[in-house]
Amino acid sequence: MKERNGTVLVIGGTGYIGSHMVKLLTESGRKLFVLDDLSTGHRSLLNSCKHIVGKLGDRELLKHIFNENEIIAVMHFAAYSLVGESVSSPLKYYINNITETIALLEEMINHGPMKFIFSSTAAVYGEPKQTPIVENHPCRPTNPYGSTKLCIEKLLRQCDQAYGLKFICLRYSMQPEQIRLQR
Ligand SMILES: NC(=O)c1ccc[n+]([C@@H]2O[C@H](COP(=O)([O-])OP(=O)(O)OC[C@H]3O[C@@H](n4cnc5c(N)ncnc54)[C@H](O)[C@@H]3O)[C@@H](O)[C@H]2O)c1
Repeated sequence: MKERNGTVLVIGGTGYIGSHMVKLLTESGRKLFVLDDLSTGHRSLLNSCKHIVGKLGDRELLKHIFNENEIIAVMHFAAYSLVGESVSSPLKYYINNITETIALLEEMINHGPMKFIFSSTAAVYGEPKQTPIVENHPCRPTNPYGSTKLCIEKLLRQCDQAYGLKFICLRYSMQPEQIRLQR
């Protein structure tokens, strides 16, 4: 039986950024569920929350999570994110960051409605023409990592049009002083 509990699914919740999100959600009293394959995450961070170890593109696992929990939002922090490695192993990046995310989106849409928060990156902009980079700066990624993120951003817009999937994309970077939100 599905728990009617307004749970947030945090994918990649044992990684660098996802684990901070898990901490914030826990402190604010929000029910959450973590899905992580521990490829770059930390098992010890799973102790304090409801979780499953597995891949985000595993449809049987996703069906189980969505059938057993009333997931109201999915926060997606699970990706490979090393620029250099993405150049030497682009297929690894396209499979993990795109193929797996497509499976997730399809299962979300089948089990929805749910909101989607996507951890994108400032790498979607490529070489900035000016800094600080404004939000509507042209997107021309210069490496496979940035391309995989931009591809999912485009797909999300199309999923909103076609299926009403509501989402936001967070394009953060290691140089926050270079980013300025368009008012
Ligand atoms: N750290 C940064 O400076 C930065 C900047 C911009 C964008 N981002 C983006 O933010 C997100 C989180 O980055 P991070 O630095 O915390 O990375 P991280 O490697 O620390 O965390 C990623 C987490 O996702 C998990 N994971 C990866 N692929 C998975 C899969 N297929 N199924 C299930 N779990 C999987 C890993 O085990 C890990 O716990 C990524 O999408 C990254 O592209 C990070």
